[in-house]
Amino acid sequence: MPIALIVLAAGKGTRMNSDLPKVLHPVAGEAMLIHAIAAGAALGPERVVVVAGHGAEAVRRAALAHDPEAEVVIQAEQLGTAHAVAQAAPVLRGFDGDAVVLYGDTPFIGAETLLRMAEARARHDVVVLGFAPADPGRYGRLVMAGDGLERIVEFKDATEEERAIGLCNSGVVMAAAPLLFELVEAVGNDNAAGEYYLTDIVALARTRGLSATAVTCDAAETMGVNSRAELAAAEAAFQARARAGALETGVTMPAPETVHFARDTVVGRDALIEPYVVFGPGVTVESGAHIRSFSHLEGCHVSRGAVVGPYARLRPGAELSEDVRIGNFVEVKNALIAEGAKVNHLSYIGDAEVGAGANIGAGTVTCNYDGVMKHRTTIGKGAFIGSDTMLVAPVTVGEGAMTASGSVITRDVAPGALAVARARQEERAGFATRFFARLRALKAEKGRGE
Ligand code: UD1
Ligand code: MG
Repeated sequence: MPIALIVLAAGKGTRMNSDLPKVLHPVAGEAMLIHAIAAGAALGPERVVVVAGHGAEAVRRAALAHDPEAEVVIQAEQLGTAHAVAQAAPVLRGFDGDAVVLYGDTPFIGAETLLRMAEARARHDVVVLGFAPADPGRYGRLVMAGDGLERIVEFKDATEEERAIGLCNSGVVMAAAPLLFELVEAVGNDNAAGEYYLTDIVALARTRGLSATAVTCDAAETMGVNSRAELAAAEAAFQARARAGALETGVTMPAPETVHFARDTVVGRDALIEPYVVFGPGVTVESGAHIRSFSHLEGCHVSRGAVVGPYARLRPGAELSEDVRIGNFVEVKNALIAEGAKVNHLSYIGDAEVGAGANIGAGTVTCNYDGVMKHRTTIGKGAFIGSDTMLVAPVTVGEGAMTASGSVITRDVAPGALAVARARQEERAGFATRFFARLRALKAEKGRGE
């Protein structure tokens, strides 16, 4: 069955007290909206429609950056969740698969949960995701009848009896897309909030003789974010799960509580992650690699046997092959560091290729940016770059070549050659002794004058 995701993301999020639209606030370094879209990806959706409103331009940019095929529709006025879903109808006209409604501020819905909903959809017309939190608070309540779902009642509209129900509405709904749009069209706004409630589609479906049911999941998955405090709680919950997951995979972390993961961090078995390491999006660390303290990694790949840090920064496109060494205060961006190469101290390697076994001396910088364009540096296999070499790109240092310490390399260096590009040293005998004696005498004279 083809699937369309409809992700509701138009709300303002007043309680965030922020200029940034709520769904763009990050959890684990990535907007909550992206977590929601990524969760829905478990269903292999053919279409992804994001309903934007507040901060629509920023929401559109974020959605497209993650999934260039996503479609963004605008809900100019936030009249309720059913009204929000209705805004997706025009772009999904003629789509006759299932539609799944997700919320942009509910980032943790599990893949397994969505798959169970899809299973339940084989037997029911409308499937709602429910959960039983410790404190049901102001969530909508699911009114069950046998194993069927009769209706959903919003907290504001619920009687005392209904408020006593522990089973709550997560907001996630699955139904055939044409049916969903037909039902949301029929929803009215005669309720305590004066809004068009998506939740009303259940009762509407039932009066048409259709069936509805609820699938339940752990409350941790349906955790929604409405305030900064809830955002912090969501972050903590995410990190706790990610750390536990990594430990279970066989990652060694002496202080897991100090390591920060991103949504998609992959760390292999027997990797060692020392205290205070931060992973941004898009990092894979292979088995047996070693990431030392205070390192920051994003969009990079670290192979088996590589050692990174302490105090290293790997930026997007950093690709470290096996047994590479990246040491303290080294930054690597968009660069391939081939097997066994070493960049051990105080260097910047950007837009470059470093050959296998090459040694990059302390303080080496690839001068990759001329103020307008970026240029590449290529360093051959087994080359030896002397300390404090400036490699002014575009430039190539051949296989097995050397550069002298302190060189500014502006032209290609042939394989096996030594390039020296620095002023020649000269010496003036006794100069320093005479110079300082004169300065001291001057100072003494001045002191007497005062
Ligand atoms: C909703 C559910 C409630 C459920 C709760 C779970 C309804 C009527 N109620 O209530 O049963 O327990 O979520 O968190 O659906 N949005 C729009 N446009 C709108 C209104 C909302 O895009 O016009 C988006 C919001 O940005 C948000 C999501 O829909 O991402 C949910 O809206 P929100 O106002 O938070 O609904 P709740 O009152 O929490
Ligand atoms: Mg809400």
